[in-house]
Amino acid sequence: MSKPLWSGRFDSAPDPAAFDFGVSFPFDRRLFEDDVTGSLAWADALARAGVLNAADTIAIKQGLQAILDAGRADPSWVNGDDEDVHSFVERQLVARIGDAGRRLHTGRSRNEQVSVDLRLYLRRRIPRLQEKLRATIAAFVNQAEQAGDALMPSYTHMRRAMPVLVSHFLLSHAAPLRRDHDRLEAARAEADALTLGSGAIAGTGYAIDTKFLADALGFSRVVTNSMDASSDRDFAATFLHAVSLSMVHLSRIAEDFILMTGEEFGFFELADSSATGSSMMPQKKNPDPLELVRGKAGRAIGNLTGFLVTMKGLPTGYNKDLQEDKEPLFDAEDTLAVSLDATAAVVRNLTLHPDRTGRAASGLLLATDVADYLVSRGMPFRQAHEVVGAMVRRLLAEKRDFESMSLEEWQRDSHLFGADVKDHVTAAASVKVRKTPQSTNPDAVRAALDETRNWLAGSTSL
Ligand code: ARG
Repeated sequence: MSKPLWSGRFDSAPDPAAFDFGVSFPFDRRLFEDDVTGSLAWADALARAGVLNAADTIAIKQGLQAILDAGRADPSWVNGDDEDVHSFVERQLVARIGDAGRRLHTGRSRNEQVSVDLRLYLRRRIPRLQEKLRATIAAFVNQAEQAGDALMPSYTHMRRAMPVLVSHFLLSHAAPLRRDHDRLEAARAEADALTLGSGAIAGTGYAIDTKFLADALGFSRVVTNSMDASSDRDFAATFLHAVSLSMVHLSRIAEDFILMTGEEFGFFELADSSATGSSMMPQKKNPDPLELVRGKAGRAIGNLTGFLVTMKGLPTGYNKDLQEDKEPLFDAEDTLAVSLDATAAVVRNLTLHPDRTGRAASGLLLATDVADYLVSRGMPFRQAHEVVGAMVRRLLAEKRDFESMSLEEWQRDSHLFGADVKDHVTAAASVKVRKTPQSTNPDAVRAALDETRNWLAGSTSL
């Protein structure tokens, strides 16, 4: 094992069972780049504070740059029996430049360092998730475009409710993903605070220009309280929450398409490339990728829940429990990334069966339109609801729907029905009659589609 950074105070070497238990390098090596970036800026801050002379500063910065280059060229080189990534970088630096390397940690604690690394990491990595969100949103937008004026039933309580445009349904899944995009942006903003200068907990005794450091590292602000900073992981929890909610959305998307691509619905066809077969039943075309996305949502929620439980009992200041922030965070990030890729691929390759969706969009789910017709002829809505309810009861018993009724039959239910009722009671008429901008009215959906496309075009340069 490499000598720990804190060995001076101890008589004996640590028990391997205890030391190995506390080692975080196998997973925090993911912070390598951020750790070196933070240290490069710290070296400059120490130089400005008069702690490092020019020669040491240059040696440290060249050494760190060489370490960064080596790690970038071969990520597997970032490895060893060090306690954590901070110890690894320091050991490599001292191996390269000797004593000057031993001056780098002056006035700094790993407590603030690990926080700054994680913040830099999230600032760097969140845009990658946002890009995948945009790709998934684009897949829905393209499908919505292709769906044209195709109709389908909408559902409440998983029962047919009212006719909608298929494009309206598809955009209903793009909308929450856009909120996820914003929520990740908020998580990124929360991570945007420099913790260096906090020392282990009470602040540093060197004249560190924190404003300069924040600028150098791309932070727009500096934390306000060193004690809080030492154990604040709210930004990690916010990120985990944003990821979990996005996974909840992906899971619901998965559920919809698992149902709607199945034999019972047959509204969409899964591409062969998005499905798997059965080892026993030759006819099966299983939606495995969608099922896995739905399953992985549980894992993301577990990461959030587990981490909140880790945090809840911690006394003020850094505690080693906080090392448990990284694995759930990295796992959540990876889970969302692969789930977005899989969802986008499935959605991109769906084929709509407009005949099936259209057929399912007519029938008794036009009952609200029949009632609205009566309202337009002066009947109070509550009474119209009664009249149409009785009609539905009768049609159900006779296994018929509105379409098969003669004008005479209509007028037996109410003299307010005219010959034009047939034109009002179709799925196409039903969507056209919606009026509000968030509705399934074809013009409103067209506008929503255009607005989403504009948003996609404008948000790519984050
Ligand atoms: N590996 C530690 C973590 O992830 C780094 C901070 C260690 N600080 C300490 N005082 N032991 O939290």
